[in-house]
Amino acid sequence: MNPNIASVLVDEAEIDRITTRIAAEIDRDYQNTGRKLLLLCILKGSVVFMGDLMKKITLPVEIDFMKVSSYGSGTVSGGQVNILLDLHRKDLPDVDIIIVEDIIDSGRTLSYLMEYLRLKGAHSVRTCTMLDKPERRDEKLRDFRPDYVGAVIPDEFVVGYGLDYDEQYRALPYVGILRPEVYGG
Ligand code: PRP
Repeated sequence: MNPNIASVLVDEAEIDRITTRIAAEIDRDYQNTGRKLLLLCILKGSVVFMGDLMKKITLPVEIDFMKVSSYGSGTVSGGQVNILLDLHRKDLPDVDIIIVEDIIDSGRTLSYLMEYLRLKGAHSVRTCTMLDKPERRDEKLRDFRPDYVGAVIPDEFVVGYGLDYDEQYRALPYVGILRPEVYGG
């Protein structure tokens, strides 16, 4: 194991079970819609989860990518979400979107994107996250629940399976808790 990881929170076997379960839920929920199903990966952290999940969905799916950045996270006034890479397609009224995230923290990124994609005209927008940290939810978004959740986790500094600290650790095949001395915690 990587020496900077204190303990493994979600191991590879559990990740495999999670992606299998969520893919089956998506297969069940979107069969015979007559519309296109789009998995929308939010860069960068979601790329590993997205890759595993899409392989296990048996329905035809399209994929696309957005990149956003949020500032002011953790402040009382609330963060602002900026779109760095947008979704450009004209057929959104014929598209069911599932936003794929690695983690939900305050919930601001996902709630902003849901509203944004609905206003853009998507037929439907649902949310899927590998990890959910409900303890960190913004006060105003307390009731926000993603549609598909891999694992609910405690408020620990986690890396791996796409998640980084200072752009490191994304390629670890498991989700681990980073040793506090690494980030000065
Ligand atoms: C993370 C994560 C979500 C967001 C969740 O992305 O992938 O997009 O933060 O936080 P929120 O619920 O408080 O909005 P990050 O900004 O770390 O970018 P990255 O995926 O490129 O590492």
